[in-house]
Amino acid sequence: MDDYLQRLKGAADLKGLAEVVKSCQRCSLRSGCTQVVFGEGNPEARLVLCGEGPGADEDRLGRPFVGRAGQLLDQILGACGFQRFEHVFILNVVKCRPPGNRTPKPEEIAACLPNLRMQVHFLQPKIMVLLGSCAAQTVLQTDEGITKLRGRWFQKGGIWFMPTYHPAALFHRPQLKKDVWEDFQEVVAKYRELIDPAHVFPHA
Ligand code: URA
Repeated sequence: MDDYLQRLKGAADLKGLAEVVKSCQRCSLRSGCTQVVFGEGNPEARLVLCGEGPGADEDRLGRPFVGRAGQLLDQILGACGFQRFEHVFILNVVKCRPPGNRTPKPEEIAACLPNLRMQVHFLQPKIMVLLGSCAAQTVLQTDEGITKLRGRWFQKGGIWFMPTYHPAALFHRPQLKKDVWEDFQEVVAKYRELIDPAHVFPHA
């Protein structure tokens, strides 16, 4: 095992893990970005959202989903009765911004996968929402497109996974909003079933 992986495995908790991940240089994305975007939210949350990778705003601020897509995501979460720092933890498949916001390459995703695995290890989510095809294909280990995957539950290793469209896709294709809303309603129902039966869904 290389030195980085040894330090990763040696992290005692999510905070310690963040320190290790911030030193990651396992692929060339790190040299082209400003900072590592580890993720944020409530470390005790059992609902985890996974995107693709930081964009320009996230790279600048060191926080996930803070640009235009992030604002839309916050709106969707709010409509479901979820607040970013209370009910969820938000992270990405790759922690460093790909140049020009291109999709991360398979070797970049592979290099970053131990980081994601360790985040999941400490967070112990009961539900993970996979935002877009990169997150869905990476986490579910499939080549199937997001159109086929979305709206269906997948269960693996004690976690329930719900793939849906990436919020950024809704800017070009607003007709997908209905599907995303349906998918998040599924998530709310599962959240009440598995995490908090008293969760208030403002749109029930
Ligand atoms: N898109 C993503 O996939 N992740 C972010 O953090 C921001 C935009």
